[in-house]
Amino acid sequence: MKHSTEPPLLIARDLVKRYVGGAGGICALDRVSLELRAGEFVAVVGKSGSGKSTLLNLVTGIDRATSGQILAGGVAVHELGQAALARWRGRQVGIVFQFFQLLPTLTVAENVMLPMDFCDTYPARARRARALGLLAQLGIAEQADKLPAALSGGQQQRAAIARALANDPPILVADEPTGNLDSETTAQIMRLFAGLAAAGKAVLMVTHERGFCPWFTRTITLADGAVCAGGGTGDGLGDGAGTSDGFGGGGAARA
Ligand SMILES: Nc1ncnc2c1ncn2[C@@H]1O[C@H](COP(=O)(O)OP(=O)(O)OP(=O)(O)O)[C@@H](O)[C@H]1O
Ligand SMILES: [Mg+2]
Repeated sequence: MKHSTEPPLLIARDLVKRYVGGAGGICALDRVSLELRAGEFVAVVGKSGSGKSTLLNLVTGIDRATSGQILAGGVAVHELGQAALARWRGRQVGIVFQFFQLLPTLTVAENVMLPMDFCDTYPARARRARALGLLAQLGIAEQADKLPAALSGGQQQRAAIARALANDPPILVADEPTGNLDSETTAQIMRLFAGLAAAGKAVLMVTHERGFCPWFTRTITLADGAVCAGGGTGDGLGDGAGTSDGFGGGGAARA
């Protein structure tokens, strides 16, 4: 596994996200820092409302931090304008959502080609073949020319993962990607993600599943918008102490 001696693929420093409105607003993230390195498969866990999705949305540039820095490959991501940020994200980060978010009017293959079209990463004539190759890798080659609505949930998520991999990004981020899937598809996806990390990508994944612990190289636990275990430098901590408190919503973890 590629690990540790290379600089992190992504560094987040002191991320704060405050939502205005209500009585004084909500501090969804409170000075969260993390580093992601090639070879890592990192879980983000914590109770509902602890800030997991907010953190993922900030590190992918989907949303802007109130303050803090995101550095990736020499780029100050937090300083990019909208267009440059979209280009950076398109090339550097693959994103997988719980509810797939495929475009309903495009075929599965066209959905997978979209990031290549947007970022011009592969020659136009090569894009469909690459999309079909990715769909084959995900085991759904025969679904390529259907609309997403004609696919099962598990097939749609595999199509969404193919789309996330379209530009071969170094970082893959997934927010509860198996939340709506059967156990067999879930296991396939966990194997795939672990394999991608082992091959040198960094994978950051929000999950509520305790049973996934053995898959991860590290676990970051959030509570009330702050890291309570496993953030920082990511040198392969097994993290046994932190993880048990972070999963689910059992009620005992938080005072
Ligand atoms: N757009 C928004 N406007 C106002 N508050 C928000 C917004 N998005 C999230 N929040 C608040 O920020 C906090 C963190 O939300 P977030 O979605 O990051 O939690 P989460 O850990 O992903 O939860 P879950 O496990 O339920 O998905 C919550 O208190 C939530 O209500
Ligand atoms: Mg969430």
